[in-house]
Amino acid sequence: MSASPRISIIGGGNIAEAIISGLVKGGQDPSLVSVADPYPPQLEKLSAKYGVQTFTNNTACLAVFKDQGPEVLIIATKPQIVSVVMAELSAQILEFKPVIVSIAAGITTSAIHSWICSGDSKAADAQVAIVRLMPNTPALIGEGAAGLFRNTAVSDSQAALAISVAAKISKQYFWFASEGDIDSVTAISGSGPAYFFYVMEAMQAAAVKFGLGGAEATKLVAQTCLGAAKMVLENEDVSIATLRERVTSPNGTTFAAIESMKADNVSDSIIKACQCAKDRSEEISAELFTK
Ligand SMILES: NC(=O)c1ccc[n+]([C@@H]2O[C@H](COP(=O)([O-])OP(=O)(O)OC[C@H]3O[C@@H](n4cnc5c(N)ncnc54)[C@H](OP(=O)(O)O)[C@@H]3O)[C@@H](O)[C@H]2O)c1
Repeated sequence: MSASPRISIIGGGNIAEAIISGLVKGGQDPSLVSVADPYPPQLEKLSAKYGVQTFTNNTACLAVFKDQGPEVLIIATKPQIVSVVMAELSAQILEFKPVIVSIAAGITTSAIHSWICSGDSKAADAQVAIVRLMPNTPALIGEGAAGLFRNTAVSDSQAALAISVAAKISKQYFWFASEGDIDSVTAISGSGPAYFFYVMEAMQAAAVKFGLGGAEATKLVAQTCLGAAKMVLENEDVSIATLRERVTSPNGTTFAAIESMKADNVSDSIIKACQCAKDRSEEISAELFTK
C-alpha cells in the first residue's frame, strides 16, 4: 500500500469534508484526492481549504487518475442518490476495480453490486470490492465511532485502505462479520449521539428548573457526559455497572436518582428505543433497494 493512495470521493458534503480534512491532516497527498459534487461553491471551498482536485462531473472525478483510476472510491452522497451514481460510474468501477467505501446509510453491498453490474450482462458475476462504513456525527470533529463490513471481494490490503479512511474520522472503529450488524451499529452509535443529546436536554432542563443559568447548565451537563464517557474508555477492565455503583453510595443523592429511574423502567425504555432504531434501519434498507 502506497503512503498516499489515489482516492475519489463522490459527494462533497459534511461527512466527505470530515474525511478530507482527516486525510490531509494525516499526511495524505491532497493532489491524489479527487472530489465530485454538483455545487461549485462547495467544491471551491474544498479545493481552497484542502488542495484537493474537484469536479462537478462524477466520471471526470475518477478519470483524473488516467488509466490507473482510484484505489479507493468513497460514496458520500445521500442514500437515495447511490443507485444513480453507481450506474453512472459502472464502467469505470469495473475497469479500475477500486475498493468502494460506502457511507450511505441503509444501502447494502448487494444493492451496490447489482446497480454497478445491471447495465452489463457480462459483468453480472463480477467481483466488486465493497466496504460499508457507518460513521456518526461526532466524525465531523474527529470523535466518531464507526462500524465496518466488507464483502468477500475485498482483499486484506483493500480492507487496510478502508480502515485508514475510517480512522481519519473515528476514535473507535470495528469490523463486523455480518452485514446485518451494520443495522445494529446504526441503532447504537449511528443514532446514539441523539440519545445522549436527549438525556442532556432533560438534565439541562432540570438544572434550569433548579435556578442554574442556561449557559452554565449546558457546560456542566456536557462535561459530565464527556467525563463519564472518558471514565468508561480509560477503565476497560471495569464494567460500566461497576463505575455506576462506585458513585452510588447507599441512600445518597445518586442512589435517589437511580432508584427513581429504575422505578420508571428507564433502562427498558432505552433498550426498546434502540430496537426501534434497528428495526427502522432494516426497513429503510429494504425500501431503498426496492425503489
Ligand atoms: N452525517 C452523518 O453523521 C452520517 C452518519 C452516518 C452515515 N451518513 C451518511 O453519509 C452520507 C452523506 O451524509 P452527509 O451528512 O455528508 O450529507 P450531505 O452533506 O448532504 O452530502 C452529500 C453531498 O452529495 C452531493 N450530491 C448530490 N447528488 C450528487 C451526485 N449525483 N453526485 C455527486 N454528489 C452529489 C450533495 O450535493 P447537494 O447538496 O447539492 O445535493 C451533497 O453535497 C449519507 O448517505 C448518510 O446516510 C452520514
